[in-house]
Amino acid sequence: MAHGGECVGRADDGRATFVAGGLPGETTQVVVTEARPRFQRGYAAGTIGAASPERVAATCQHFGAWPARGAAPGAWCGGCQWQHVAYDAQLGHKRSILRDALERIGGVGAPAVAATIGMPTPWGYRNKLRTRLVGGRPGLVAVDGRTLVRISACPIAVPALLAHVAAFEADLPDGTEVTFRIGERTGDALIVIDDREGVVGEIEVESEASIVIIGPEGEVSIAAGRSFYVEQLGGAAIGVPATAFFQVNTGMAERLAEVVQAALGPGSGRVVDAYCGIGTLTGAIAAVSDTVVAVDIDASAVAAAVANTGGLANVTLIEGDVAEALEEIGPGVNALVVDPPRGGLDAAAGAVVARMLPARIVYVSCEPTTLARDVRALGSIGYAHRSTQPLDMFPQTYHSESVTVLQHDASGLA
Ligand SMILES: C[S@@+](CC[C@H](N)C(=O)[O-])C[C@H]1O[C@@H](n2cnc3c(N)ncnc32)[C@H](O)[C@@H]1O
Repeated sequence: MAHGGECVGRADDGRATFVAGGLPGETTQVVVTEARPRFQRGYAAGTIGAASPERVAATCQHFGAWPARGAAPGAWCGGCQWQHVAYDAQLGHKRSILRDALERIGGVGAPAVAATIGMPTPWGYRNKLRTRLVGGRPGLVAVDGRTLVRISACPIAVPALLAHVAAFEADLPDGTEVTFRIGERTGDALIVIDDREGVVGEIEVESEASIVIIGPEGEVSIAAGRSFYVEQLGGAAIGVPATAFFQVNTGMAERLAEVVQAALGPGSGRVVDAYCGIGTLTGAIAAVSDTVVAVDIDASAVAAAVANTGGLANVTLIEGDVAEALEEIGPGVNALVVDPPRGGLDAAAGAVVARMLPARIVYVSCEPTTLARDVRALGSIGYAHRSTQPLDMFPQTYHSESVTVLQHDASGLA
């Protein structure tokens, strides 16, 4: 199974073939949709011989079934890729994909990658759905990446969130992006209408949720309620501003904080929480550190992090670019936690890390390929890969989250 969700096989002529809807061990007929001299791409059109024991029937009506999903890619929702894969097998594939990336891209020999921490019930978890309007109603992007599919079900979404999506109707242009967010434990919902094009005039929406509009300059105006929602995380109430990052899976966000805390260990000394967002990990880090400096570039996230970590005397928050903040913080950092966006560490951040050389780096990643690239770069300045713990933040999709521990034994800051 490859990163991206397709299965990799060999065609009769020996060409590598990426097969959507395929499963390891199966022999299948493939409808080829893209042919190149060295590889081809397509979808599974019929198993020859026995189906894999990993194969299950999809739960969602908008996922459909193979090969119908491949034959009409504009008709089926593209949000999930793996509803045809048994859940235990999904967890195994996420582990293998990470191990493979760390080996091939990261240059780590036999990397220690633990079994993926999964969800007890891998459904009803998504606290955020980004939709685009079609005929005034929310739609999700189809398998073809273009067409919008109107949905009446989404078994991976928090049910109360789906109720807000289903009830939404507005006289707004087709393609308008409307994001629905909810506190899974509080039921507090927020609808974010993206009007960066400046085309939304007066809006009339009947909803019990808060509604905000993001204007052409990124400014947030409140149409109803307030500009954030409240969630319960680790037993405490946290505020999540309209455009700030928060993990889409509240329960697994709690597990992630536990894993990061364990990766640091007690007595971690002086720690930097880089890319801290609304401070979701900061409290867990502070509990095992002398001091924590937490940094994020998003002003609304930092303001929320100040409130969300309120009362923790050993936490300092900085609004700004990670590379610049690390430069200011200077040497003497024992451990650095990084949780960058999908693109991983940028060159400027990497250069400052090379000068600071914290003994331990705890790298939280949602993208195995950029994690592996950065592990290779950090390896070239003396960091050894110690462990990677995958967590299933995104069941039924190929996406994965992981926590990697890197150690620099010569840094003198153990
Ligand atoms: C994957 S989120 C992690 C948030 C947080 N650790 C959490 O668990 O919720 C990445 C964060 O990086 C921030 N970010 C992106 N580029 C940045 C930069 N150059 N400097 C500082 N923060 C940045 C974003 O605002 C976002 O909050």
